[in-house]
Amino acid sequence: MLIAGNWKMNLKYDDILKFRDIVNDFKIDNRVEMAIFPQFPLLYYAKEYLSNCNIEIGAQTCSSELNGAYTGDVSVEIISDIGCKYCIIGHSERREFHNETNSFIKKASTLVLSKNIIPIICVGESEEIKNKKDTNQFIRNQIRKCVPDNINSDLVIAYEPLWAIGTGIIPSYEEIFNVHTNIIDELSYIENLKVIYGGSVNSENCAKIFELNTVHGALIGGSSLKFKDFLAIYKSAVKQL
Ligand code: 13P
Repeated sequence: MLIAGNWKMNLKYDDILKFRDIVNDFKIDNRVEMAIFPQFPLLYYAKEYLSNCNIEIGAQTCSSELNGAYTGDVSVEIISDIGCKYCIIGHSERREFHNETNSFIKKASTLVLSKNIIPIICVGESEEIKNKKDTNQFIRNQIRKCVPDNINSDLVIAYEPLWAIGTGIIPSYEEIFNVHTNIIDELSYIENLKVIYGGSVNSENCAKIFELNTVHGALIGGSSLKFKDFLAIYKSAVKQL
């Protein structure tokens, strides 16, 4: 399982130190990985301070180009040099505010894989699509367009319904189960595939989500900023094994 904290554009250098102090005394179970995704300038420190605590580090996005005149972008080579294990690609906030299209996501994921970093490709439907009952078809289409060709192992898909992000509302457990089953079915040729759920996961609803055997972890926004809650979610995942 993978419990991943997407800090988005929150928290500072001091918070990395605070997090380290808390996790220093925390037992990481080797069957459940913990990873955090801080803002780019904090990645180096996070790696430096947290790798002794068995916590993985990841980036929140990366360029789809290897290097060159792309002001403000961050290359996968830097992400790799820092020692990130994961890179989130195509988060719905990146799709909405930074025009990360399906073809960008496929290109960036292909680059990420070439540096032995595991992409966490985000998919998820809008409320409108959900109401039209088109979710499964929409997600299949996103996956077909975003997943790199020739990949046969090590991929994470984060299912994050847009209407569940930051709203406190989650799909029914049955809906989560069904969408995850659909994703697993679509990508059955990939070894070591993880399908994780994201969108308003908290320390109260997580146990029931982790009970679903098609859920291989969670991508957590708001609740990952409250370290106590994040660790409670982690413990709940361990309990589920
Ligand atoms: P929230 O957990 O705040 O809903 O955010 C989910 C998310 O976008 C994680 O990537």
